[in-house]
Amino acid sequence: MGFGKGLATGLAIVWLFAGVANAASDRLAPTGHWTAVATGQASTPPMGWNSWNAFHTDVTEQKVLDSAKAIVDSGLAAKGYRYINLDDGWWLKRRASDGRMIVRTAIFPSAAVGGAEETSFRPFTDRIHAMGLKAGIYSDIGANNCSQAFGGPDTPNLPEGMVAEREVGLYGHIDQDIKLYFGDWAFDYIKVDACGIRAFGSDSAKVKSGLYRALDPLIDTKEIRRTDIPAVRALYQQVADALHHTNPDNDYIFSICAWGSADVRAWAKDVGNVSRTSDDITPSWTRMLANFDSAVGRSLYAHPGSWNDPDMLFIGHGDFDEHHLTEARSHFALWSMLSAPLLIGYDLRQAPQPLMDILGNSDIIAVDQDAAGNQAVLAYDTDDIQILVKTLANGHKAVAIFNRGLAPAEVTLTAHHLKFDGNAPVALRDLWDGHSLPAFSGETRMHLEPRQTLIFDAAGTRSLSDGLYLSEMTGRVNPAVDGVVTPQPDPTIHRMITPWGGTTDTGEPPAYTGWGGAQADATPYRQMLRINGTAYETGLGVLSNSRLEVKADGQFRRFVAEVGVDDSTFDADDDVTFSVYGDGKLLTTSKAMRFGQPAQALTADVTGVRIVELVARGKAGKNKTPTVVTWGNAALLNK
Ligand code: GLA
Repeated sequence: MGFGKGLATGLAIVWLFAGVANAASDRLAPTGHWTAVATGQASTPPMGWNSWNAFHTDVTEQKVLDSAKAIVDSGLAAKGYRYINLDDGWWLKRRASDGRMIVRTAIFPSAAVGGAEETSFRPFTDRIHAMGLKAGIYSDIGANNCSQAFGGPDTPNLPEGMVAEREVGLYGHIDQDIKLYFGDWAFDYIKVDACGIRAFGSDSAKVKSGLYRALDPLIDTKEIRRTDIPAVRALYQQVADALHHTNPDNDYIFSICAWGSADVRAWAKDVGNVSRTSDDITPSWTRMLANFDSAVGRSLYAHPGSWNDPDMLFIGHGDFDEHHLTEARSHFALWSMLSAPLLIGYDLRQAPQPLMDILGNSDIIAVDQDAAGNQAVLAYDTDDIQILVKTLANGHKAVAIFNRGLAPAEVTLTAHHLKFDGNAPVALRDLWDGHSLPAFSGETRMHLEPRQTLIFDAAGTRSLSDGLYLSEMTGRVNPAVDGVVTPQPDPTIHRMITPWGGTTDTGEPPAYTGWGGAQADATPYRQMLRINGTAYETGLGVLSNSRLEVKADGQFRRFVAEVGVDDSTFDADDDVTFSVYGDGKLLTTSKAMRFGQPAQALTADVTGVRIVELVARGKAGKNKTPTVVTWGNAALLNK
């Protein structure tokens, strides 16, 4: 039996009690608070560099320092790329006497501060800090790490020593390691992977080899029903607590790397600053599509403080190298529209200038880093062309038109896509070359080459001139409870031939649970919002028994929406009441609404209100067959 059993059982008991408490309390009761993460240094998505895509475990101190120097010398640091993050490969072993981690000084010579068993990353982080940069480290939530799980016989720099010495992950050492990494070693960022709770079951070849102890897997990436979601969350929460405790100055970033498994979509925003939405990106166009798709439907789950992470940039390699600048530009523009972390994964010591120009495009970086923190929303969505629109802090829109395929395309962009008045002029500025296009009104046509992404800053007259639709302020909407009771894989995510499976298996099944989560301008299953035959281009789609928190911050006077059970509902037999709360107090409630009834208009005075909460309450115990509800035209108005 693996030593994970005891902990897993312990967690299960804790969770059982939590479950009893939860049943007694009411998850739909208003809290009057914003409950997504607001701690750490992630008011905008992190930017920087990470060693993995460039060097894998063949990393050295010199390579990292040279890359850091290149970031500074090239001017990228001044543009916001400030985190220099180590990934897998840095460790030698855990000290047998007391569990203190030992750095592999053969590749990080400055860590040799006091004999073979006394190492410190402090000289290294001091160097990074002296360059005006921040330093990141990497660990695993289990006892062992990803290169130990998936590396082959030729993988360099795997941990050494006895079985226990090679257990370099955080498992059983969370407080000790976080104190060492952030207190003594002064790191500013940690990425915590999850291979240790996925790949070391007693029947795995690695464990059978005798090199690793068994740890009953908590994650099954293929089957959410075999994943212990509460136990995974509880472990990551322990890291969050340790980080909080060890960094009273709040100067840290916590990156959760559970690859979209364990239903992280629903909870990682409450625990970490960034959370991976899929398996690893590779330098292949179709893998980039898969990673992009895993995040694009999750706009409402990204906010200042907690971002979706479709993985690091692969610009410079394979389909995104200097011979594929169209693809490289698309990758960069799309990541910026997603408000994704911009972590360069390239050996910058030899970067061709055209690639540096892409990474250094200040206008597109500004889209990623926009202070409003609204991840783009899909305004047009097909397997061929997608149009993404991101509402910026200054009221402009960033719009990206993305040709996913191999055929050129003619595309019509409309003022409606932008939620702009169709009769007023719309000014577009091309963010690739800075030039302005002639203003259009109503619509304009564009030509796209295969795999091209056009990206513009759009200025016009907003359709809703006296406020904001909630789907224009996704960074201020938190699906605290999204009504999903049975997490499901998302079938809309592109599936590709994985480099790790090839075509020897049966192909990649739908993965990355999130299907059925709250959506901006669409139902949870990406249908058009519709109540009793009336369509809504704008609004929020969610399941019943949900509670959305909206940061109004005292800036608005009125909340309005047209609410009802959506025509696409699975359960046509539920009764749903829609309630609006302001700072925890009930402001208005609808009558009980059923499928097929016309929408009911709701309006509430929210003057001075900081947190508006939108609760759609169906019959208790429903949602096994989900009830789909629509907050049509939901908006906060200034008058
Ligand atoms: C996992 C992560 C990657 C990288 C490797 C390191 O695969 O998803 O981003 O950190 O582990 O082994």
